[in-house]
Amino acid sequence: MEYIRSDKRMSGTKRVLMEALPLLDVRVGYINKNIDSSINLIQAINRLKKEKNAVLLAHYYQEPEIQDIADYIGDSLGLARRAAETEADIIVFAGVHFMAETAKIINPNKIVLLPDLNAGCSLADSCPADEFADFKAKYPDHIVISYINCSAATKAQSDIICTSSNAEHIVSQIPLDQPIIFAPDRNLGGYLNRKMGRDMVLWDGVCIVHQVFSEQKLVRLKARYSGVPVLAHPECDAPILRHADFIGSTSQIRKFAVSDKHDTFIVATEEGILHQMQKDSPTKTFIPAPPESGCNCSQCPHMRLNTIEKLYLCMEYELPEITLDENIRLSALAPIEKMLEMSKEIA
Ligand code: 13P
Ligand code: SF4
Repeated sequence: MEYIRSDKRMSGTKRVLMEALPLLDVRVGYINKNIDSSINLIQAINRLKKEKNAVLLAHYYQEPEIQDIADYIGDSLGLARRAAETEADIIVFAGVHFMAETAKIINPNKIVLLPDLNAGCSLADSCPADEFADFKAKYPDHIVISYINCSAATKAQSDIICTSSNAEHIVSQIPLDQPIIFAPDRNLGGYLNRKMGRDMVLWDGVCIVHQVFSEQKLVRLKARYSGVPVLAHPECDAPILRHADFIGSTSQIRKFAVSDKHDTFIVATEEGILHQMQKDSPTKTFIPAPPESGCNCSQCPHMRLNTIEKLYLCMEYELPEITLDENIRLSALAPIEKMLEMSKEIA
């Protein structure tokens, strides 16, 4: 990987912190520097946001302390919409690489920062663009709907992008006789196939967090908390979804828990969402669905690479920055714009 500042930054009005370049350790993918322990990082980040006209966008799966200083917290659709609307000069993405890349695709002239470039996604990694091109070539009459959890190069080969908030709405707008490839999440694609009576061809990718919830442990938990609804993300495997009372994206799960009459819920998604759910409803109880492994935590190892320290350093030094090949960016932009257009009605 190469970390070279864009021409715009070299010639722009912003001060170019050349001294930061050696600090960006290409082997580790983030600014690797000791921070003076007297610095209050929350105050420093808030100051940098103002000074640099930067907006901090965070996904629900971030550490609570990052969520608490974000200008906007949301799901993938909300984050893409916010990135499309912002007037900030710098977008700081507390999320994973494909999310920051989406913001850059939409905003080629803005600086988009990701605190740790290693913050990837198992779904995006499962679908390398060259392998996807070979797969797609086998289905010449199919259109491609890709889940936003994929690389820019895979998006560039897609007709429409979707998120878990708008996938059903988007697929419902495609005529039944139009064959579809759905990539890269076989669980979300399979869920849509079952629910909508479609026969989409599925790429074989999974999310490493949602794939490992234990059906057996969930059944036991349901028996222990009789009548408690299970709220599940559609990235979960079919055996988990079968036990769900509500299936939706992170923001849809959050909204459901606020309006539903129950006071206890079992939640089958990355546990970072519980922070906002608990803030929304302080008197309600949220029980994380148990994964197969002995530990009862379901944290995304990619999302959790972002820390408050890396966030501060990335804002201070404006690195690591997301950069993109312009041809790929333009090809990836069209299906994202189509998604935004086709899902205007989705709140
Ligand atoms: P949403 O927040 O869009 O539901 O996506 C969940 C997820 O796994 C993001 O990586
Ligand atoms: Fe990817 Fe799953 Fe992590 Fe979301 S939770 S970023 S889908 S690995």
